[in-house]
Amino acid sequence: MKLLITGGAGYIGSHTCVELLEAGYELVVIDNLSNSKRASLDRVMEITGQRLTFVEGDIRDTSSMTSLLKAHSFEAVIHFAGLKAVGESSRLPVNYYDHNVGGTISLLKAMQAAEVYTLIFSSSATVYGDPETVPITESAPLSATNPYGWSKLMVEQVLSDLQASDDRWSVTLLRYFNPVGAHQSGLIGEDPNGIPNNLLPYISQVAIGKLSHLRVFGDDYPTLDGTGVRDYIHVVDLALGHLAALKRNVHRPGRHVYNLGTGKGYSVLEMRAAFEQAAERPIPYEVVARRPGDIAACWADPSLAMQELSWSAVRGLEDMTIDGWRWQSRSPNGYED
Ligand code: NAD
Ligand code: UD1
Repeated sequence: MKLLITGGAGYIGSHTCVELLEAGYELVVIDNLSNSKRASLDRVMEITGQRLTFVEGDIRDTSSMTSLLKAHSFEAVIHFAGLKAVGESSRLPVNYYDHNVGGTISLLKAMQAAEVYTLIFSSSATVYGDPETVPITESAPLSATNPYGWSKLMVEQVLSDLQASDDRWSVTLLRYFNPVGAHQSGLIGEDPNGIPNNLLPYISQVAIGKLSHLRVFGDDYPTLDGTGVRDYIHVVDLALGHLAALKRNVHRPGRHVYNLGTGKGYSVLEMRAAFEQAAERPIPYEVVARRPGDIAACWADPSLAMQELSWSAVRGLEDMTIDGWRWQSRSPNGYED
């Protein structure tokens, strides 16, 4: 079965490509390399011993996307391509709506022209805003507080309207919680540009000595130790969630929505302590003010994915930190090494 993977050179896309190739799928990846390196796909092929086809291109280019889709017989598209930095989205909203919303609409036009009707979309737990209760189920109220979050909500709406208008479509919205870690080979992982915004990449760079210490954004939240609690999920478990969704929903008309999380929350200080153990070195920290826009606690109720997809996350905190550290210590400068 042949698949088109948009944004497949990125962090989650590259890990998903490994699992898809190992499961026997034939892959074409399209990526404009705006936030990734071609080397990630070379490593994917090294890990799996299998080949994929790479096309450097932009999903907003509808005519090239249409030609690409028509040139192959794809059964489905897995759509990772997009911009994802929350802070940047408030500074550059037009850019975010252009890539995330405009890019998706361009992709959908091309899919319609080529008559490919199965799409799996990378959504985010950010669509739950500040949740009223945890764990969060798929039917919780949706909201957004920044252009990145709005772009995910808008795409969810576009896909839902499309599916309601034409029953040939199978649309799967995967709401990821906090992906962390790396493939256990240490050959692929997260390679952020500049100073990381997210917790685990920041901690890893403190551990490797690139950054002096972690700044903990607030210790006065109503949580066990006062620091923010999140549902961290190993990126390989997340990748396997895509396989499960694909197997179940390819050519199964409807709108399918799943939380991909572990169902367990860890605080910032728990994550720091776990990483300290994995890296066997101290991670100094100081507590600073809360980060604007942050919420206290967020974790998934992942039971629907278990019921419908027979999928659940199996890798624990130790796997997340040990695998993340293996990647960081092997490649302190990411794919530039
Ligand atoms: P990433 O930046 O590593 O991967 C995204 C890829 O898309 C990159 O390789 C980038 O070069 C490519 N891209 C961006 N705009 C493009 C365009 N117009 N045309 C073609 N390629 C384009 O990000 P990631 O962490 O792998 O995230 C993948 C998806 O999952 C994104 O849609 C993101 O919003 C979503 N998501 C990520 C997280 C997370 O914490 N990483 C959480 C929830 C949802
Ligand atoms: C962030 C985004 C979210 C996005 C997700 C995945 C914000 C407000 N939210 O989620 O929309 O879907 O990334 O990309 O940016 N922390 C520190 N020090 C740091 C970094 C983080 O204490 O240097 C804390 C945060 O306050 C939070 C936790 O660590 O409590 C996790 O933060 P982060 O990794 O940025 O993820 P989220 O905020 O959950």
